[in-house]
Amino acid sequence: MTTASRGEAAPRLHPATVAALRRRVFAWYERHGRDLPWRRTTDPYAVLVSEVMLQQTQVSRVVPRFARWIARYPTLEALAGAPLGDVLAEWSGLGYNNRAERLRRTAQVVVAAAPGGRPAELPATLPELRRLPGLGPYTARAVLVFAHNADLAAVDANVRRVLTHELELPHDLSPAALQAVADRVLPAGRSRDWHNALMDYGAGALTGRATGIRALRRQTPFEGSRRWHRSRALRLLLDQGGMDLDGLAAALGLRAEAAAEIVAVLEKDRLVRRRGSRVTLA
Ligand code: ADE
Repeated sequence: MTTASRGEAAPRLHPATVAALRRRVFAWYERHGRDLPWRRTTDPYAVLVSEVMLQQTQVSRVVPRFARWIARYPTLEALAGAPLGDVLAEWSGLGYNNRAERLRRTAQVVVAAAPGGRPAELPATLPELRRLPGLGPYTARAVLVFAHNADLAAVDANVRRVLTHELELPHDLSPAALQAVADRVLPAGRSRDWHNALMDYGAGALTGRATGIRALRRQTPFEGSRRWHRSRALRLLLDQGGMDLDGLAAALGLRAEAAAEIVAVLEKDRLVRRRGSRVTLA
C-alpha cells in the first residue's frame, strides 16, 4: 500500500483546482453568507467565546446565548472575576459545562499576566494561545483568523467536510495532511472571509447532499447517559449550593457508587469539590 492510499501524504493540488474551489466557495458566500453576531466583532475575547460555544453546540442555539454572555461578561476581567456558580448558570443549556470552567480559567490566566492597570488581552501568537487552558489547535487558530485575519488555516469538522468533499480527498486523510491542504487553498489576506465562507458553504451547500461523511466523534449511549447525569447533578448543585452524596444519589435516582463516579468526573473537570460525603460547587 502506498502512503497516499492510506491518506497520510498531503495530496498535490493543481492551481486551477484551487482557483475553482475559491471561486465556488466565495460565490456561494456572496449570495448566502450568514450574518452571525460573532462576525460583527474582531474582539479576540468575543471570538474566543463564540468558538468555544460553537465547539459542541449548534449555531442556532449559540446565537442568542453569545449575545447574552457578552452582555454579562463583556471583558476578560469581568469573566475572570465572576463566581463559578454564576458562570455555570449562564452556560446552562449549552452542554459540556467544563467548557465554561476552562473559558473562565483562561480569562483568569490572561488577566493575571496583564501588566498592572492595563486591560487584559489575549495573546496574538499561536504558541501563546495554545498554552491557555483548553485552546486546541483549531480554537487557537480560529481566534487568530477571526480576530486578526491572520494568514492561517483553521480546520474543524466543517472545514474538513468541505475540503474532503469538494476536492474529493480520501476520507481518512490524516489531520496533518488535511492541514497542509487547508494551508494550500487559503487565499492570502482574506483569511477571515475565507473561513466564514467555508463554514457557510459547509452548513448550506453541503447539508442535505449525500456527503458520505459521518460525524467525526460518536458518543456511546453509555457516555450519553453519564453526561446526562452529570448535567443533572450540576444543575442540582447550582440550585442548592451543596449536597451530601447520599442526597445527590437519591435525587439522581442512582446508587451511591454510581453518584460518586459522576461526582469524580465533575471534580476532575474542576466544576465541583468533594470533602468526605459533602459535594459543593468548586
Ligand atoms: N463553527 C465554528 N466556528 C464557526 C463560525 N465562526 N461560524 C459558523 N460556524 C462555526
